[in-house]
Amino acid sequence: MEPQNIPTFFLIFTFTVFSFPLSFLAAAAEGYDGARSSIAFATWLRSSYSFDIFSLPTSGPANEVRLTDGVSVNSNGHFPSPSSVSMLPHLPNRVLPTTHLIYVTERNGSSSIYHDAIYETPLATSSGSRSAHRASTESIRVECKYQTDSTRSQVRLVGGDAETGGRISMKDRPTLVGQNLIYVSTHEDPGQPRASWTAVYSTLLTTGSTRRLTPRGVADFSPAVSPSGVWTAVASYGETGWQGDIEELGTDIYVFLTRDGSNRVRVVEHGGWPSWANDSTLYFHRRGEDGWWSIYRASFHIREGENRAESVVTHRVTPPGLHAFTPAASVSNPRFIAVATRRPDSEFRHVELYDVVSNRFIMSTRSVTPNAHHYNPFISPDSTRVGYHKCRGSTGHARRNDLVLENIKSPISNISLFQVDGSFPSYSPDGERIAYVKLTTEPMAYVDSPGLYVMNSDGSGVRAVLTRPAFATAWDWKRRGVVYTSVGPIFAGERSNVDIVSVNVDDENPSIKTLTHGGQNNAFPSASPDGKWIVFRSGRSGYKNLYVMDALNGETGGLRRLTEGPWTDTMCNWSPDGEWIVFSSDRGNPGSGSYELFKIHPNGTGLQKVLQSGSGGRINHPWFSPDGKYIVFVADYAGVSAEPISNPHHFQPYGDVFVIKSDGSGIKRLTHNSYEDGTPAWSPKFAKPVNAEWPNDGSHCSFEDCHWLS
Ligand SMILES: *[C@@H]1O[C@H](CO)[C@@H](O)[C@H](O)[C@H]1NC(C)=O
Ligand SMILES: *[C@@H]1O[C@H](CO)[C@@H](O)[C@H](O)[C@H]1NC(C)=O
Ligand SMILES: *[C@@H]1O[C@H](CO)[C@@H](O)[C@H](O)[C@H]1NC(C)=O
Ligand SMILES: *[C@@H]1O[C@H](CO)[C@@H](O)[C@H](O)[C@H]1NC(C)=O
Repeated sequence: MEPQNIPTFFLIFTFTVFSFPLSFLAAAAEGYDGARSSIAFATWLRSSYSFDIFSLPTSGPANEVRLTDGVSVNSNGHFPSPSSVSMLPHLPNRVLPTTHLIYVTERNGSSSIYHDAIYETPLATSSGSRSAHRASTESIRVECKYQTDSTRSQVRLVGGDAETGGRISMKDRPTLVGQNLIYVSTHEDPGQPRASWTAVYSTLLTTGSTRRLTPRGVADFSPAVSPSGVWTAVASYGETGWQGDIEELGTDIYVFLTRDGSNRVRVVEHGGWPSWANDSTLYFHRRGEDGWWSIYRASFHIREGENRAESVVTHRVTPPGLHAFTPAASVSNPRFIAVATRRPDSEFRHVELYDVVSNRFIMSTRSVTPNAHHYNPFISPDSTRVGYHKCRGSTGHARRNDLVLENIKSPISNISLFQVDGSFPSYSPDGERIAYVKLTTEPMAYVDSPGLYVMNSDGSGVRAVLTRPAFATAWDWKRRGVVYTSVGPIFAGERSNVDIVSVNVDDENPSIKTLTHGGQNNAFPSASPDGKWIVFRSGRSGYKNLYVMDALNGETGGLRRLTEGPWTDTMCNWSPDGEWIVFSSDRGNPGSGSYELFKIHPNGTGLQKVLQSGSGGRINHPWFSPDGKYIVFVADYAGVSAEPISNPHHFQPYGDVFVIKSDGSGIKRLTHNSYEDGTPAWSPKFAKPVNAEWPNDGSHCSFEDCHWLS
C-alpha cells in the first residue's frame, strides 16, 4: 500500500519561544586554546537514517501518513494530550490543527525537540482511499481522519544550541505535560568517567525555566509520564551507573514525582522503556530468562510521601517465540498496546498492536512496508492512531538528504565538526582533501565497493582509489597525494592477512606499493612529519605491538620494534611535531577489551598513560591536533545515551568523540548522540561548517536492526 504523502506546502514557524539566561559561556570557557581547525569522524551508518514519523489507524494497516517534514532525521514521537496542547503559548491563531506531534529532530547539526501542528482541509467526499477499515477486534474503534493536503507549523521547543548557551546535547523521548516538556538531555557532565550523562529534565515552555528531575550522579533513560501527569517512570541504574552494557541495559524502573523529581521509588527490578496505562499500571520490556525480549506489566500502589510502592504485581504479557519490546500503552483503550517486534520469520522490525485481553497480535506494519524497520511506537490520546518512525527512503516520496559530510554543531567554536559518510577519514596535510574507506561490514549506500576513496574536503569529487577491502587511512606529510592504508579484513586476529600499502591518489592509474610482507595483521599506518617513517601495529610476534618502518621502501628498507609485550598496542598516530606517538592499548588488562590511551617517543622512551576511561573502559582511535597540543579520540567515557534497542544496530553504541590536552588533562565531549561515533581525524585547516550532499538522488535505508535480536 502506498503511504499518503502529507504536505507539499509547509508553513514553517521556527522561532525560539524563550531563551535561557546562559550567556556566561564565552570562548575562554570552552577549554580549548588551539588554532581554528576541523575534525572529521564516522558515525555508523548515520547517513542512511532518513527517519520520518509516520502513523497508521489502530483500526488496520491502511492509510499510512507521514507526519514529519521528509527532510530532517525525525524520530521518537509523542502525541500530546488535547489539554496540554491547548495550554501551549506558541500556537498560531489559525484553524484547529488535526494533529499535534512532539518529536525529536536532528537538523542543523544538533538534536532538538519540535512541536508540529498539522492543519488539514475538510475531507473530500470523492476520495476512495479514506474509507474506514474495520478493526480486527470489536473493541478498537475505526476512523481515519487524515488528509493529503495540509499545512504545518513547526516550533522548536528545546534543543539546538541557543538555550543551552553553546552546550550541545542530545534531546530525547519527549512528553508534554501541561506547559512542561519532560525529556532526556545530556548537557550536564557527571564529572566521572564511564558514566552516562543522560538525565531527565522538565522545561516550562512559557519561561524556559528548566529543572533537573534526575538526582546528580544518576543516569535515567526513557522517561514516561503517567496519564495524570503526577508520576514519571524511567529506566535507571540507580546509583550503580552504566555497567558497559551494549545490548539490554541492566536498568530497573523507578518512579518519581514529575513536579520536582522527589519521591523517587523503585517499582520494578530489571526492566526498561516504561509506558503508563494508568497511574497504577505500566508496561515495560525486559529480556526474559528464556532469551526472548517481552513486554511485562507492573501494577502497584504509590502515594506521595511514601518511600515505596505497595502491592507490586508484575507479569509477562507477550509470549515467548518472538521478541516484543518498546511498548506503548493506550490510555483511552486499555485493551491494547503497541510494541515493536522481531519475529523469527522476518529480519525486519515491525510495529504491532497486541490485544492484552485476548492475548493476540491484531495489527502490523508488515502489510504496509514489509521490508523496513519500524521503531518506537506511540499511541494517540484517543487511541485511534499509532505512530512510529522508519526510514522514508524506500517509499520514494521524500526529498533527499543523504550527506557525504554533515556538519555537526561543535561545542568548541574554533573546531568545525564533520560526520563523514565513510570510515577512517583523514585530511591531507594541506587540509584540502579527505581520504576514507568503505568497510566490508558497511551496507553500501552510494558507492558499490569496499575500498579506499578520496574526496575534496568540501565533500565534492568523491572517487574510488582502491577497490579492495581496506581500513585506516593516513597521508604522507611530504610526498603530495601519497596515502597509506591497510588492506585486508578489519577486526581480525594477529595472524590475519593484512598488509600496509601506499598509493598516490593523484596518479592516473594509481599503482599500489606493498610496504609490509607476510600479512600478519600489519595495520593502522601513520607517517612521521619528516616523511621518513611509518608507525604501525603488527601481529608478527603473536601479539599486536607497534613497529616503525621506512616510509618509502617499507619494512625491507628498515624496521624496528617500538613496543613489546603480551597485549595489544594499536591505532597509533604520530604527532605533527614528530615528538610523540599516541596509541590505544589493553596492556592494563590484556584481552579484556579495555583500552587506555598511551603515548611514547618515537625512539621508544617516555612511555606515559594519557587517559583511562574508568575501570574497564575503552579509548580508541586517537589523533593529534595540528599543533600537537590536543588529542581527539573516541571513548565510552560518557556511557550510553539511550537504550540501544531503541536504535538501529551499533556495535559500540557508547562511542562519542572527545578531545583532551596531550598531557591528559581537560577532557571535552564533542558529540552527543546515541549512535556509534568513531575514527576521528584532525585537519590543519578550518573547513566551513556546512553540509555536503551526495550528488545522486534518493534516500537510502541501508542500515541493520540490532544484530543481537536475530
Ligand atoms: C581560535 O583560533 C585563532 C587562530 O586560528 C586564535 O587566534 C584564537 O585565539 C583561537 N580562539 C580560542 C578561543 O582559542
Ligand atoms: C536547518 O535544517 C533545515 C532542514 O533540516 C534546513 O531546511 C535549513 O535550511 C537549515 N537551516 C540552516 C540555518 O542551516
Ligand atoms: C489500570 O489498568 C489496568 C490494566 O489495564 C487495570 O487492570 C486497572 O483496573 C486500571 N486501574 C485503574 C485505577 O484504572
Ligand atoms: C628520545 O626522544 C625524545 C624526544 O624526541 C628525546 O627527548 C630523548 O632525548 C630521546 N632519548 C634518547 C635516548 O635518544
